[in-house]
Formats: sequence, structure tokens, C-alpha cells
Amino acid sequence: MGKVYLKTFGCQMNEYDSQRILSVFRNYGFIPSEIPETADFAMLNTCSVREKPQHKVSSEIGRLKKIKLKNPEFKIGVCGCVAQQEGENILSDFPYVDFVIGTEAVNRLDVIIDAVLNGERVADVEMKSENISIPAFRREASPSAYVTIMKGCNNYCSYCIVPYVRGSEVSRKSTEIIDEIKFLIDSGVKEVTLLGQNVNSYGKNLDENINFPKLLYMIDKIEGLKRLRFVTSHPKDFSREVIFAMRDIDKICEFLHLPLQSGSDRILRNMNRKYDYISYAEKISLAKEEIPGLSLSSDFIVGFPGETEKDFEDTISAIKEIEYESLFAFKYSPRPGTKAEKLDDTVDDKVKSERLEKLLNVQSAVTDKLLNNYIDKDAEVLIEGKSKKDEKIYSGRNRQNRIVNFESDKALSPGDIVNVRITDAKRNSLFGVNKECMTTLKN
Ligand code: SAH
Ligand code: SF4
Ligand code: F3S
Repeated sequence: MGKVYLKTFGCQMNEYDSQRILSVFRNYGFIPSEIPETADFAMLNTCSVREKPQHKVSSEIGRLKKIKLKNPEFKIGVCGCVAQQEGENILSDFPYVDFVIGTEAVNRLDVIIDAVLNGERVADVEMKSENISIPAFRREASPSAYVTIMKGCNNYCSYCIVPYVRGSEVSRKSTEIIDEIKFLIDSGVKEVTLLGQNVNSYGKNLDENINFPKLLYMIDKIEGLKRLRFVTSHPKDFSREVIFAMRDIDKICEFLHLPLQSGSDRILRNMNRKYDYISYAEKISLAKEEIPGLSLSSDFIVGFPGETEKDFEDTISAIKEIEYESLFAFKYSPRPGTKAEKLDDTVDDKVKSERLEKLLNVQSAVTDKLLNNYIDKDAEVLIEGKSKKDEKIYSGRNRQNRIVNFESDKALSPGDIVNVRITDAKRNSLFGVNKECMTTLKN
């Protein structure tokens, strides 16, 4: 039986595509391999959102080249967003790469594998589909799973390469989404995370009379589904209706990732984000009011062209005011073909690093404060696994998506949902005890 090694960079879209890729290889009789050295096929699912992850690709290809020199039958493939962006250039720049497949070509992977097995070198980065259809596919057993509801992005934030490497926004038919979720539930899934670059504009290109809140209500009806999440929401399209759906649908977890990017209106305008800080903060206030226990998260870019000390201080004030439980922050990285690439990258790298460090320090204090609120309270935990060292220690996530490690005298399995009394809170995870076992102890 053949083996395939697949390394995934970037966001959940790539993780989802990687699962699809593995399922196609499985149909060909290939099994996954943890290391490339023992594999027949190696694939890199790449990300080009910033320069750093893009650079990693060439070093990873270099590593795979060494294996190919020893074993000429070893096949190397590059897919994902760098593949989409660079296309055939990858074949000419790296003569030992066998195939390059773009973000839409995952649909045609079987044809490509056939060609590669025939000794051909292939580059398929065609992107033309006006609709997406993804047949339900088998994946590794897990109580939680991703489900793509749309692809691409039409927002063209001035710094962002995603619209160029993922194409324009197209929604998937609701019946197909529902079918995939039912298929997952039948295979033991309890929690589904809906994926899209901008889930709040779901349905715009479809003939159906549907939008994102309507889709949420349809999914709510699926029996056996216990938890529902979604990423990413764009603040300009994040509506009151979505807030009310989050409030009214019990399955939707109290977690909202709503990337602000900057606290300065001037920078937001230059980023082409189409909202200002006040309108963002109003939506957050309403969401906090309507959804008790809501945990917030965000993305920020520091050092966008023209960002002054004052602009950066606006970002710091926003972080203090909103109180995210967690966030991701990045130094601005110019991306080829984007609008912002044409602006002078005015902020010195040293200043970018200082701002990033300051932002993360401010956030750490906010995180610590919020995490303390979990202590001595109960959390609903969906079990994902068990500690290898101690068989009484289990691991899962609370509804706010925090990892919870906890002790339980009662034997439990992945997919079980238990009530855990939280006893301690660290930045990486919460700790606690299975509530049921606490009562047995008392009696
Ligand atoms: N669709 C999502 C996220 C897309 S990419 C959204 O709209 O928020 C994930 C994050 O990477 C972005 O939120 C942004 O913070 C960051 N990012 C994107 N392009 C970047 C760039 N050129 N430099 C630095 N960070 C960037
Ligand atoms: Fe990029 Fe903006 Fe689209 Fe998000 S919404 S993927 S940041 S262009
Ligand atoms: Fe990266 Fe592509 Fe996602 S650029 S962040 S893997 S959509």
C-alpha cells in the first residue's frame, strides 16, 4: 500500500482541503504517513497570506528534494495558495517538483494523480467555477469537523492576497451543506465549524432565498448535532440577525471571531475594511448584551503603511475596551498584486516588532483577567482525547473554544459532553474536575 505525506500551512480552509486531498488519496489505496521519508507522495498545502509562511515553502521543498535524490520514484506536489499564485513557475523554479495544483484544482485531484503516476509533470491552477460542489467525503474520526459553506472573497482588503488566490466569492448550496453535516453526524461528529472567508455574506450568489442566519436555523434542525461554530465573520456584514440567531440557537457556541485589524479609522479606511471603530464597537456591545458568556477573538495588523504612533495607540485602546479573550496579531507584510503593495511600507521593521510586542503584552493582561472568570464555574466540555500519561486526565474544549484538561474517575470517550468544574486557568488551557465525579466523592 502506498503512503502519502501531507503538510498543511495556513488557515482552516487549507485544513479542510487537506482532509479532502487525503480522502482522494485514500480512494487510491494510499494511507497517510507522518514523515516524508517513508512516503511515496509528499504534498505541501501552502499559505501566502504573509511573506513568512510563503518563504517556508521553498525550505520545505528543499527538504523533500533530498528524499527525491535518494528515491527518484518519490513524487512531490505543491498545492494551496502559493501554488495558486505561482502556478507553473514552481515547476520551472523547482525541477524536482512533480505537480502544482491550485485551490480549485483539488476537485480534479484524481485526474492529476493519474497523470503524475504516469510520469507526467502537471500544473493545474485553473480557477473558473461559478458554483462549488463538494461531495461529502470521509475523514479521520473526530468529534468535530469543518464544513466549507463558501469559497473565495470579494472584499479586497487592500493588504490581502486571499481574493487573488481563492477567487471570487461563491456559496455552496444549502442542501449540500446539510447533507455533508448529516453524513458527518452519522460518522460520530458532534460539533461542526462552518468555514468561509466572510460567512456573513453567505447565499449572495445562490438562486435560493437564503442568507447566513437562515442557513444557521436550517442547520439547527439537524438531529444529533450538538454544537455549531463559524469563522470568519467580517464586521461590515456581521448583522443583528446573526447576533439574534447566536442568542436563540442553543447549538451555536458562545464564541465570535470578528477581526478588527486596527483601532484607527484612518487606517481602516486605507485597509478598505468598510467599517469604522464606532460601528464595530456597537455590534460588539449588542453581541455581548444578547449572548451571555460570549468569548471574543480578533485579528490585528500592526505597521500597516502610514500607521503612526497615534494610530497604533487607537488599536491599543480598542483592545483594552473590547476585551477579547484571545487574538492573533501580525506585522504587516506587503503582498504581490495587492493595493497596499503600492503604498510605501513606511513603518520600520523594528517599530513593527515593538508594536507587536506591546500589543501582545496588553492582550496577555486582558486574557489573564478574563480567564480568571472561568474559575469555580462549570463548563460544558466536548471530549476530544485522553492524556497519554494519566488515564484519568481528559482533554476537550468548552463552548468558548478553550482547551480544558480535567480529571474524571469515570471512563469517558471522545465525543462525550460533560460538565466540568473549572479549578484553574492558564493561558494555554483551563483545568478542572468532572462534575459528576465530584458529587460521587461528596456522597
Ligand atoms: N477572512 C478573514 C481572514 C483572512 S487572513 C478576515 O477577513 O478577517 C487572516 C488574517 O491575516 C487577517 O485577518 C489579517 O489580520 C492577516 N493578514 C492578511 N493579510 C496580511 C498581510 N498582508 N500582512 C499581515 N497580516 C495579514
Ligand atoms: Fe482578506 Fe479582507 Fe477577504 Fe478577509 S475579508 S480574506 S482580510 S480580503
Ligand atoms: Fe493562507 Fe490561503 Fe488561508 S493564503 S490564510 S491558506 S486562504
